[in-house]
Amino acid sequence: MKALLLAGGLGTRMRPLTESMPKPMAPVGNRPWLEQLVLHLKSQGIREFVMAVKYFPDRIQKHFGDGSRFGVRIRYAVEPILLGTAGAIKNAEPLLGDRFLVLNADIIQNAPIEPLLRFHEAHGGAATIGLVAVDDPTSYGVVELDASGRILRFVEKPAKHEAPSNLVNAGIYILEKEVLRHIPSGREVSIERETFPLLIASGAGVYGKAIEGYWMDMGTRDRYRKVHWDLLDRTFRLPLQGKEWKKGVWVGEHTVVSSDVSLVPPVLIGDRVRIGEGSVIGPYAVIGDGCEIGRGVRVTETIMWNDCRVSDDAYLKGCIFGAGLQIGPRHFLYDAVVSRGAEVRPE
Ligand code: GDD
Ligand code: MG
Repeated sequence: MKALLLAGGLGTRMRPLTESMPKPMAPVGNRPWLEQLVLHLKSQGIREFVMAVKYFPDRIQKHFGDGSRFGVRIRYAVEPILLGTAGAIKNAEPLLGDRFLVLNADIIQNAPIEPLLRFHEAHGGAATIGLVAVDDPTSYGVVELDASGRILRFVEKPAKHEAPSNLVNAGIYILEKEVLRHIPSGREVSIERETFPLLIASGAGVYGKAIEGYWMDMGTRDRYRKVHWDLLDRTFRLPLQGKEWKKGVWVGEHTVVSSDVSLVPPVLIGDRVRIGEGSVIGPYAVIGDGCEIGRGVRVTETIMWNDCRVSDDAYLKGCIFGAGLQIGPRHFLYDAVVSRGAEVRPE
């Protein structure tokens, strides 16, 4: 079974981090999420992928190529205009088989695929939607299920009083080819607002099944932070790079940490990082590959992408820094989300 990864959205709620890159390429645990997702699906036996791309497609294509570097086969369906979630699937039609998996590539999850597939086969519907229960369903697609698991209603982002349940679309589907007949080509079509309601009304058989494992839509900056704290707390058990130097302190290869640096767990530090004397890193810090951190720097609750440079005596709390950022000496930054290319200069 092939997997189609929807990775073409604009990532507006993650700006400025997504100003010049697709959201699914944002690192999670120091590796692009999309790469982590491909590796997870590979561990589930999926070897063939189609990526539906539109926004900065070359960032994805250059990273993955034909997929051989990751031991999988990857092809691309590039949209001429943003076609929406169903339009993107329709656009990929020539590359898909009779039955295929579709995933919103911005969902951070490690769901096993086999139970979903077994459920899909047992129920024989045109579509099976993976579901999760959430406290506030209003920013998701919400379903009403009958006792057999059949979806009676699918409502995208309903008002609170209109949500039929707290079971929401997890952004993981198994679809039969016949679904494609219900998607018009050449225009924007939303699978959530148009195709699912249409399929349900036509009696095609749309089923829902709760998925297992960790699940989070990384959609916003706050949720992106939360994914990382869950990763460091190991409630999200994605494999971490590097060695665990002591409990909750993971350090990558060729990283040099001066002797009097305190690494306060939990922290994840990438490859080829340098950390100067007297710095305190953590708790809750993720430092990307190739970062250089000066002396006397304090970093807590902060995610730093690759190749950032932080000068002496800076104090960082609650920040997210895009790759290649430079921070001047004695700069104090709280809750700053700063993207690539920006530079906070010393006075
Ligand atoms: N190729 C392509 N083209 N991909 C797209 C397009 C498009 O026009 N529009 C969105 N996508 C991709 C996004 O990159 C993302 O990975 C995924 O489709 C979902 O789009 P979002 O914009 O992130 O949707 P959402 O988070 O508001 O809601 C969706 O996800 C929820 C789960 O988190 C819906 O599927 C909800 O029903 C669902 O509950
Ligand atoms: Mg989303």
